[in-house]
Amino acid sequence: MEPIKVGLLGFGTVGSGTFDVLCRNQQEISRRAGRGIEITRIAVRNRAKAEQRLGDALRTVELTADFASVVNDPSLDIVAEMIGGTDIARELVLCAIKNGKHVVTANKALLAVHGTEIFEAADAHGVIVAFEAAVAGGIPIIKVLREGLTANRIQYIAGIINGTTNFILSEMRERGLDFETALANAQQLGYAEADPTFDIEGIDAAHKATIMAAIAFGIPVQFESAYIEGITHLDILDIYYAEELGYRIKLLGIVRRTKKGIELRVHPTLIPAQRLIANVQGAMNAVLVYGDAVGATLYYGTGAGAEPTASAVVADLVDVTRLNAVHPNNRVPHLAFQPDLLVNTPIIPINDIISSYYLRLRVAGQIGVLADITRILATLCISIDVLLQKKSEAVDANQEGEIDIIVITHKTLEKNINTVISHIEALSTVRSRVTRLRMEALN
Ligand code: NDP
Ligand code: HSE
Repeated sequence: MEPIKVGLLGFGTVGSGTFDVLCRNQQEISRRAGRGIEITRIAVRNRAKAEQRLGDALRTVELTADFASVVNDPSLDIVAEMIGGTDIARELVLCAIKNGKHVVTANKALLAVHGTEIFEAADAHGVIVAFEAAVAGGIPIIKVLREGLTANRIQYIAGIINGTTNFILSEMRERGLDFETALANAQQLGYAEADPTFDIEGIDAAHKATIMAAIAFGIPVQFESAYIEGITHLDILDIYYAEELGYRIKLLGIVRRTKKGIELRVHPTLIPAQRLIANVQGAMNAVLVYGDAVGATLYYGTGAGAEPTASAVVADLVDVTRLNAVHPNNRVPHLAFQPDLLVNTPIIPINDIISSYYLRLRVAGQIGVLADITRILATLCISIDVLLQKKSEAVDANQEGEIDIIVITHKTLEKNINTVISHIEALSTVRSRVTRLRMEALN
């Protein structure tokens, strides 16, 4: 059988990694797919850079600066979109779909924001949009959620799903690196998004959590409802205090089914240090999925970088090749549930979630301060699990005698903790804003 023909859009970290893996493992891959998979055309913005990167392999492909010519090329069966972003990528993907081409993409931003439009177009034209690489890089978590755990009612997913931020947090905790140096290293290693604010502000993780929520619960992708907090405001002090209390801070993407609706949130989270997921370091990702039948399952692997991501892209190319001749009605639905059976379960506002909390504040070392704080907590029926007092390291004469108070609460409504924080901050003895971090036991 003739090889299936692929057009690549973009030739950066993931595009070039995909090309390399496909060339290197060509024989094994075609034995699995049942026919060869060939990248015959690559659309690039910077031809010289691509030529240099391709070297001898330049003989096997045609480079073009005309991206539209690839999605309109009748000789191509699959378009692999490896550009990123939501503008040109959206136009090209929709055009490829309308031309009857299958699409493979690693672009979580595109799917989290425009997924509904893209999957509807794909269903209408009987083509596949495959996106394994869009969540957790090399970990086949889409396959797991969509197929492997299909018997289950998924209860929750908690994942370290951004390699850049996990790398930064690890470098800060283990090597004492400052935030900027750790971020620059992550960029150098090819982990970060073109705009790294997407990583450090939690947006990339929220894109991925949005996609997982849709597949886990059979709801439309709704990035606009996600609650997002990144790691830019995280203080190294909290990493150390958390450690002292037996916790690690990780940027977690959390999706959870509750009686009130679905939680969809990304924020720095304290996790007990003995949990496996708390020990995931560097750019590694891990996704904990709890299904009612299977219980807890954990998936671990490299979440970013050229070849780990290419591993997922090529897996999609193989899947699409195998399913090319299958009638669309017999394929696994894009979002795991039949498109006409998606439900509009509401995403619950962050104020209505229930969590335990880590609070840190600096206070004047005076008698009665602790009593004031515990009284405020008691007023809202919030019980204290741990209370720690640390002499402040500030040596400034003005700050002499100040202490840091760290409180870990039992579970309560987020809106209650916000009320507590505003009352505490109004105390005359309190010398700082209250740092508030959410906690997950994950047991
Ligand atoms: P890169 O920036 O390394 O590569 C992007 C490629 O697209 C480059 O060839 C770039 O050209 C080209 N490009 C970018 N913008 C345009 C544009 N407006 N018009 C034409 N060409 C353009 O990105 P990555 O390879 O890292 O990421 C690609 C996709 O994969 C993104 O959606 C990303 O989120 C996703 N992804 C990335 C992972 C990673 O570890 N890097 C992991 C998982 C997913 P030029 O070289 O001229 O800039
Ligand atoms: N910037 C992303 C990350 C790439 O750091 O996880 C993988 O999606």
